[in-house]
Amino acid sequence: MSELDLSTTLGNAWFPTPIFTASGCASSGRELAQFFALNEIGGVVTKSVMSKARTGRPTPRMAETPSGMLNSIGLQGPGIDVFIEKDIPYLVSQKARTIVSIAGETVEEYSTLARKLRSVAGISAVEVNISCPNVENRGLVFACDPEASRRVIDGVRRTLGGELPIIAKLSPDVTDLVAIAKGVVDAGADALALINTVLGMVINLDTMRPHLGGKTGGLSGPAIKPIAVRAVYQVHAALPKTPILGMGGISNGRDALEMIVAGASGVSIGTASFGNPTALVTIQNELRELLHAKGFASLRDAVGFAHREEAGK
Ligand SMILES: Cc1cc2nc3c(=O)[nH]c(=O)nc-3n(C[C@H](O)[C@H](O)[C@H](O)COP(=O)(O)O)c2cc1C
Repeated sequence: MSELDLSTTLGNAWFPTPIFTASGCASSGRELAQFFALNEIGGVVTKSVMSKARTGRPTPRMAETPSGMLNSIGLQGPGIDVFIEKDIPYLVSQKARTIVSIAGETVEEYSTLARKLRSVAGISAVEVNISCPNVENRGLVFACDPEASRRVIDGVRRTLGGELPIIAKLSPDVTDLVAIAKGVVDAGADALALINTVLGMVINLDTMRPHLGGKTGGLSGPAIKPIAVRAVYQVHAALPKTPILGMGGISNGRDALEMIVAGASGVSIGTASFGNPTALVTIQNELRELLHAKGFASLRDAVGFAHREEAGK
């Protein structure tokens, strides 16, 4: 079993395993590093960083929901300069493979962030979180606007040149996800991250008002897994050569394998690690055992397996 090859690639970046943190769910890995070595997993996807320091959205920012949670943290953080000064050296010191997530309010802000990252050593890829309101278009979320999605990725691609792989992270809150995926791949994305949280709301019946300070929030956890599997399956069917980082409700090795056979080359784990900080390592071990039990010699052989005519192995 030890020879089972778990390695994967996202664009031209190579990773020894397909297990990653999910952006925003493990900051820059410091908390998780108390529980396992960050270089044991495929890589760390950092919380989305913006140009300037931000305080995030009003409280309350969390609500528990059946089989999931709703959050409206907002993109709280110190801004790109402090991030480059403090977080990247930490991740390098831990020998973690790092995917930096960026977020902006304008097309230009994404390009500015990419310019700052271009010359920083120790980064494997850039994940572009486009689930952010576009202040230049009435706050319409970039990821819900095919043209704005393309322009963000095009700007980041031009700024980065061919140096770092770009992973475009899409929102499931759209009618035609495949059209958005094709647009960002045409614009230069090497890989796709699917899915960001699903927009939701909880009303507090004591106050008879929306519970979250930001009113709406992002739903994550097991409740969204079937949406994520569907998204990965549909996009892989349309773009079989584009690697996908799948996420949404992965809690165990079976969930990870489901996402992989739907078409994901790697998986991110977010909400599951809040309840169990060693979840990533457990899921990695369970996935290895499951792949072995199903007779696969490598992870690559399992990617997209559910699309094969004779599937059912
Ligand atoms: C508290 C919290 C904060 C998040 N912050 C970010 C973020 O900064 N950038 C981003 O692209 N996604 C963010 N996400 C979305 C996750 O990366 C992931 O796409 C989503 O939670 C689905 O995975 P899960 O069900 O395993 O949590 C956040 C999710 C949660 C729960």
